[in-house]
Amino acid sequence: MQNAALAVLGLGEEWSYEAIEVAPEEFEARVRAMPDEGFAGANVTVPHKLAALALADAASEMAREIGAANTLVFAAGGIQAHNTDAAGLIAALPGSPRGQRALVLGAGGAARAAVWALGAAGAGVDIWNRTPARAESVRIEVSEHAEDLQIEVEVGTVEVETRGDPAAALDQSVYGLIVNTTAVGLGGEDPFAHLPLHRDGFGPGQVVVDMVYGDTPSSLLSAAAGAGAAIVDGIEVLVQQGALSLQLWTGREPPLDAMRAAARS
Ligand code: ATR
Repeated sequence: MQNAALAVLGLGEEWSYEAIEVAPEEFEARVRAMPDEGFAGANVTVPHKLAALALADAASEMAREIGAANTLVFAAGGIQAHNTDAAGLIAALPGSPRGQRALVLGAGGAARAAVWALGAAGAGVDIWNRTPARAESVRIEVSEHAEDLQIEVEVGTVEVETRGDPAAALDQSVYGLIVNTTAVGLGGEDPFAHLPLHRDGFGPGQVVVDMVYGDTPSSLLSAAAGAGAAIVDGIEVLVQQGALSLQLWTGREPPLDAMRAAARS
């Protein structure tokens, strides 16, 4: 996706994007060596996102707000840390989440970024997780962080026991926005057997995001689209996050269509 974008921008000869695997104990030394090797920046993924923020000389407000970095820029003044996870999710939505009621499913790293992104963008966010204590931890963490930064963020948790009775779901029609960040669906499981959602509970006017990505729309997104909801898949979120990173490295307008085509090929 990034190499396709670089080619469209006419940078394909000078620039390239490659994957580097590094162990946590070697992460800092590896990153510090990169500017001298000619790298303009890097995307950073799990488990290095916290370390990336910690080693940077400067950090964007968003990276500080989220407490993790997924993008590093090697600038003249040192290493800058950014986070495009939140802005990428917001950019992937068909409209602003301000004033919407949002449900985030899951309580891992992707959920935390989604809760922060939506809350900071003005949505009221409920978090549901299979293990309720983890949802509560995310709620507390996001609320405390917002308080420190004096940002108004409305976040709560919902507890629904789906085990053994997936039909005992919550009323999903009250949510304008539903974001699945759980791993359910990755292995082909039926999302409606594991998540507190009804297959036939979606409707027009809703936006449903599934961070799980595969070659075909997930069962969750197929059901939502069939009921007239707007759908956003994980690839679109990935493309938007990548586009924001590309913009930080090159200063150029990202060619979104070329990035989409490459990401989906
Ligand atoms: P991330 O990749 O976002 O950092 P993670 O920490 O690997 O996420 O967590 C995966 C998420 O998927 C968790 O919210 C997990 O729920 P638990 O906290 O209860 O483990 C959720 N998850 C994974 N398999 C699931 C299943 N079969 N049913 C419901 N939730 C599931």
